[in-house]
Formats: sequence, structure tokens, C-alpha cells
Amino acid sequence: MKQNIAPAEGKLGILIPGLGAVGTTMIAGVIAVNKGLSQPVGALTQMGNIRLGKRTENRYPLIKDFVPLANLTDIVFGGWDVYADNVFEAAMNAKVLEPMLLHAVKPELEAIKPMKAVFDREYIKNLDGTHIKEGSSKWDLAQQVMNDIEQFKKDNGCSRVVIVWCGSTEKYIETSAVHETLAAFEAGLKNNDPAIAPSMIYAYAALKLGVPYANGAPNLTVDIPALEALAKEPKHLLQVRTSKQVRL
Ligand SMILES: NC(=O)c1ccc[n+]([C@@H]2O[C@H](COP(=O)([O-])OP(=O)(O)OC[C@H]3O[C@@H](n4cnc5c(N)ncnc54)[C@H](O)[C@@H]3O)[C@@H](O)[C@H]2O)c1
Repeated sequence: MKQNIAPAEGKLGILIPGLGAVGTTMIAGVIAVNKGLSQPVGALTQMGNIRLGKRTENRYPLIKDFVPLANLTDIVFGGWDVYADNVFEAAMNAKVLEPMLLHAVKPELEAIKPMKAVFDREYIKNLDGTHIKEGSSKWDLAQQVMNDIEQFKKDNGCSRVVIVWCGSTEKYIETSAVHETLAAFEAGLKNNDPAIAPSMIYAYAALKLGVPYANGAPNLTVDIPALEALAKEPKHLLQVRTSKQVRL
């Protein structure tokens, strides 16, 4: 298989909907590694190897030396949450990492403040946040998320951005007609179709801008034909076409 992959140049923005236990632990971990306080134990991209060719060839380079990946020092974090707590406060509440480690990266974590979330209790009943966007429709909310992404990219001088959903799991949604085509999905955004969950609004906004969207929860989100089609539009393919050719 041959695939062209863009060089990992410049700053990479990682925008996270859901700055809870998973999201804040990832952020604090990367900052701790960058400050020389921790090792990236468990990080496939930093410590994992890949086997090339047959086992007998004994070729096992580090994945990060084989594919062009951003350096951890080139990453800038941001995100959205339904609570206004900064990442230090949210990480302390999550109680995943030891307070001593969190205090060692406190200034960096405190500087990351969530943007207002796209949220609706209809999809996650046990949350009651107030740090929430208001919009005339789901379409309008998607435009607001696109503005957030572009503003973040500009403010932080990022050459690339990726969205990684670390928000709570949404209620189960069956695939329906509104998910079938991009046209139906966009009409559904305008008509506030109940089968379009908040995570889908973030994903639509990201993909519309050519920003990759990774899903860390068992939500339906991008597993629908409409968003699969959007992800295959030429602007995405252009992103991975580049100078460096990787042979697997
Ligand atoms: N904790 C784990 O070990 C683990 C492992 C794998 C996957 N997951 C999945 O990752 C997700 C997050 O888990 P967690 O343990 O960090 O949960 P958490 O409750 O600690 O954090 C989730 C955060 O998402 C926020 N949120 C919810 N809806 C949002 C929205 N629409 N926009 C922005 N923010 C929103 C919440 O306010 C909360 O701060 C869950 O779906 C979980 O199933 C968790």
C-alpha cells in the first residue's frame, strides 16, 4: 500500500470537546513530558515500534521515526466544555493524576480555558452545565464551532488542527434518513432534526473546514454516510498529499 502523508510541520492544534478525565489527563501528560517531568509511557506514538517486512528482517523502527508525526512540543491544546473550569481545575476534579504532578504543570493547565460547548441535555441527561452556546439552529451552532476552530488556529499560529472528542457518551441514536446524505444532514441542521446530536455538530464543523475528527466515545457521530461523504471531499485528500511518500 502506498500513501502520501503531509510532513508534520508547524504547530498542531488539538481541540477537545469534553475537558474531563480523559481530555485533561492527555493534556497534563503531554505538558509533563515536555517539561521533563514524566516519560510518555503508554503513548504508542512516542514509544511504540512498527514491524517492517517479515519478522526475520528484524526491522522495528519507532513509529514516530517512520511516519511524520508532530513533536509533542509542537502541540497546542484547546477545547470546549459545558463547565467553565480551566484545565487545572477540571483535572483536579477528575482525580486521575496525582495533585503533585498537576501542581507542577499548573500555569500551563490554568491557561487552557474551555470555549462554550454545543450541548443539549436531551443527549446527555446527567449533565447540567451552563457554559453553553446559544444559537438559532443546529446550523448556526455549527457555524459558531467553525469560527472557534478558525480563531483558535489564528490565535495560536497553528498550521494544522485536529478535533478529538473526549466528551461524555451521548444517548444511543439509530441511523435515520437525515444521516444518509450530506444534503439531508445540512437540511437537518437547519430544521434542528433531533437525530443530530451535539457531537455531530462538532464533527460536521471540523470536516467542513477539512479538519480531521477523531471520536473517543461510543457515539454514532461520524459513522453515518453524510459525514463519511464529507470526510472524502477533495479538501481532505489534499491534506494528505505531499512530498514525503511512505511505503508500508
Ligand atoms: N475514562 C476512561 O478511562 C475512558 C476510556 C475510554 C473512553 N472513555 C470515553 O471517553 C469519554 C470521556 O470520558 P471521561 O472519563 O473523560 O468523562 P468525564 O465525565 O470525566 O468528562 C467528559 C467531559 O465532557 C464534557 N461534555 C459533555 N458533553 C459535552 C459537549 N457536548 N461539549 C463539550 N463538552 C462536553 C463534560 O462536561 C465533561 O467535562 C466518554 O465517552 C468515555 O466513555 C473514557
